[in-house]
Amino acid sequence: MASASVAIRVVAAVLVLLPDASLQTLPPPWGWACDQGVCVKGEPSDATTSLNQCKLTCSPESAVWPRPSSFMHSSEVSFFLPTNVTRRLGCQEEVCPLVDQAIDIFLDNLQRSHPDYADGSAPWEGPWDASVVSHTLDLDVTVWNADDRLHLDTDESYQLFVTTIADKTNAQIVAATYFGARHALETLSQMVEYEEGVDALMVLSSATVEDAPVFPYRGILLDTSRNFFSVKSIERTLDAMAANKLNTFHWHITDSHSFPMQLETLPNMVYYGTYSPRQIYSPAEIRNLVEYGRIRGIRVLPEFDAPAHVGNGWQWGEEQGMGKLAVCVNREPWQSYCVEPPCGQLNLANPKMYNVLGQIYNEMVELFSPIDLFHYGGDEVNLNCWNTTDEITNWMDENNFGRDADAYYNQWSVFQEKSRQLLTAANAGSEVPGILWTSHLTEEGRADQYLDPSKYIIQIWTTGTDKLIGELLEKNFRVIFSNYDHWYLDCGFGAWVGEGNNWCSPYKGWQAVYDNSPYDIASDLTGSAHEDLILGGEAALWTEQADEMVLDSRLWPRGAALAERLWTNPSHNWEPAETRLIHQRQRMVTRGIQADRIQPQWCHQNEGLCYLKGVHQGCQAMAEAESTNVTET
Ligand SMILES: *[C@@H]1O[C@H](CO)[C@@H](O)[C@H](O)[C@H]1NC(C)=O
Ligand SMILES: *[C@@H]1O[C@H](CO)[C@@H](O)[C@H](O)[C@H]1NC(C)=O
Repeated sequence: MASASVAIRVVAAVLVLLPDASLQTLPPPWGWACDQGVCVKGEPSDATTSLNQCKLTCSPESAVWPRPSSFMHSSEVSFFLPTNVTRRLGCQEEVCPLVDQAIDIFLDNLQRSHPDYADGSAPWEGPWDASVVSHTLDLDVTVWNADDRLHLDTDESYQLFVTTIADKTNAQIVAATYFGARHALETLSQMVEYEEGVDALMVLSSATVEDAPVFPYRGILLDTSRNFFSVKSIERTLDAMAANKLNTFHWHITDSHSFPMQLETLPNMVYYGTYSPRQIYSPAEIRNLVEYGRIRGIRVLPEFDAPAHVGNGWQWGEEQGMGKLAVCVNREPWQSYCVEPPCGQLNLANPKMYNVLGQIYNEMVELFSPIDLFHYGGDEVNLNCWNTTDEITNWMDENNFGRDADAYYNQWSVFQEKSRQLLTAANAGSEVPGILWTSHLTEEGRADQYLDPSKYIIQIWTTGTDKLIGELLEKNFRVIFSNYDHWYLDCGFGAWVGEGNNWCSPYKGWQAVYDNSPYDIASDLTGSAHEDLILGGEAALWTEQADEMVLDSRLWPRGAALAERLWTNPSHNWEPAETRLIHQRQRMVTRGIQADRIQPQWCHQNEGLCYLKGVHQGCQAMAEAESTNVTET
């Protein structure tokens, strides 16, 4: 009874406030004023704008993420409708169709930023003021060269000039390659926001952007073996990567748990290896994803992890008269033979295993064609698995290889060299750099004994303080950073092989992701930033505890924090980037990415008021103040 009367009173109060019963027809009670690059919420006046307009115009970076290397813009905006965009292309034959597709994606993103166009249905008619929105956005895109594939030395730079005369805004894009041009379109789409009062989009009226990434390799790893991810969810991941100018989707497609990659010449792999018949990637789906990525400026990089991290999918060898292709498959107790269940390693003693491996490479090279890099995996070999398997130990003895750790490492490195030759043969004799995880083979004093720095790139997954990083750099290895203390996105959840928290806890917040600087790590360890050897970095989502239900929120917005580190390599920590990061998260949500919420919406509307100011320098200052006090007393 009491609650019913309260409800009635509330309704009555609302009716008094809103005679039209529509919030949208009332003038907003709040406006935002730009104060030294920060949008401040207050009473509306001639000097205030909407929140969106303030976000676009107020700070030197506007609302663009990752921050461009050089960016100047006006504080004026022009209103237009997402249907009123024209295009003019200057490009070579192979490249023009790509640019057209990139513009289609750009238009789709514009529609998503306008609530009345967002669902792709026919635009809503009114109530905009036709005279205000009689305006065109003209795109003028020039791409100089014909290169339509991403390489480590692809020029991804671009220039973007926005000018407005009367009822036309012209966006001129000039880039050496298609990839630069598509980044420019992404930047331009981030210079556009929805304006509620006009019910139209607005674009910065004038701007000059000159931009290029600091690191050529900017990746996200997804593991689709521990748990399966639908093609749709992978496409969504590529969309979100494109919104952040990340350029490498590292596909850890197989592991010991399941083998979802369908191969035409080896149907048994997926038959024995998939979790269920529908949880597979067909050749056509893989090719489509590779193309889907290319249009979005992303290399889909295949990993075939070996000689460990194989298992399910490899059980058919004996039946086919080929002997055991893998050993220790699903062997228990797992902790004696591998790092996590289920176990499995390739059978080095069986020459037929190499026939199968070569066939896998043949198909992978064709599916991901043309490859410019290949990931061999190569992590976490368990010597006890091999050393307790009769077939392997007999083979070691017969060949007088010995049975100590070095003997096994030697055979592992022989395996690696054979793999490299098979991959090169699969790639029509053309060598591509191979990527390997840090492992026993790369441990102190070993890496250059087993691996040739001109042929291998090392992906670092130890901690950022590991001396090994310095050693690899000093031995001239090119490296990619994925140090787990900052860039493993699966950390910080409950354990799955016991109780408590999982192995790499705690959770790595976006701030920790943002602040991880490869050059600083290299400088601390070696006294040099080794800019020529550090190709970039990658955030890894291992998926023992994730499937597509939580995919977006594990990856985003932390993947965006990674992206600004790798694109811009800012000299400051996360604090000045916070406002834009929150906005970038909102933008991704608008585009259909279910990114994690990291703050109350109040913080998005009240810029800079949420974090404890100077947490970093603050701690230092506090410590200094305390020590000063101590001396004084
Ligand atoms: C598109 O822009 C032009 C001016 O450049 C204008 O004449 C036309 O009315 C606009 N169309 C719409 C639907 O706003
Ligand atoms: C393999 O087993 C033999 C005999 O049990 C032992 O001597 C050797 O140390 C083992 N090797 C490794 C690397 O553990």
